[in-house]
Amino acid sequence: MTKTAVPQKLSLFPTHVALVPDGNGRWAERNGLPRLAGHQAGIATMHRMLEYISDYPFKYFTLYGFSTENWGRPETEVEGLFDLVEEFINAHVQEIHQKNVRFQHLGRLKELPKGLQAAVNGAIQLTKRNTGMVLSVAFNYGGRAEIIDAVRRLIEEGVEPKKVDEKLFGRYLYTAGLPDVDLMIRTGDEIRLSNFLIWQTAYAENFYSKVLWPDFTREDLDKALVAYSKRKRRFGRVQARQ
Ligand code: IPE
Ligand code: MG
Repeated sequence: MTKTAVPQKLSLFPTHVALVPDGNGRWAERNGLPRLAGHQAGIATMHRMLEYISDYPFKYFTLYGFSTENWGRPETEVEGLFDLVEEFINAHVQEIHQKNVRFQHLGRLKELPKGLQAAVNGAIQLTKRNTGMVLSVAFNYGGRAEIIDAVRRLIEEGVEPKKVDEKLFGRYLYTAGLPDVDLMIRTGDEIRLSNFLIWQTAYAENFYSKVLWPDFTREDLDKALVAYSKRKRRFGRVQARQ
């Protein structure tokens, strides 16, 4: 069965893809709907996305769901979003498990509602021995908060300053065990990182799509992958001669 022609053909394929799904609110506004309806549509796109990506040989896929700054939104939107995500995890956790995906969470879980914490912890437990793709969901995540949390732990553990290098520091981040991001995709026509994986994207390739997240399709994902395959990754070094 030919699932998708694109990944097989590409000369360079990312190992770790990070995604900032943006534009739910604007999509709702354009369709004359409340913002929460935009998030609902965004969750449906996420479900479709999980279908597409299981056809691609990604090893790591990391999603931005809710930032530490998103608490500043109206309470009804924040609570509605939490409910939608909890329902989504509970409804699809078995499906994720059957795909051999390992689910993990990045961020300050304990500040989230108990029901959502239980859904997240249940998904982590159920899928912890899976050997396929690692799906990390950043929820109540902030890149700066992540660095602060790492520094606090380093100090608490009395780590000797001389022992602190980039490798050791990486082990104190929420993303311990994940490789750096290769490709960062953001939808919704905004060209910024918004405090997402600021340490891990130091040398990531960025792809910005104008498409609002609820309208994002497999073809849009393919465009990002094709663009990535054409990039020359040099990591600050001189390009090797062909
Ligand atoms: C992204 O959509 C989803 C979350 C941040 C949870 P937005 O809600 O930011 O949509 P816009 O930017 O207002 O269109
Ligand atoms: Mg936005």
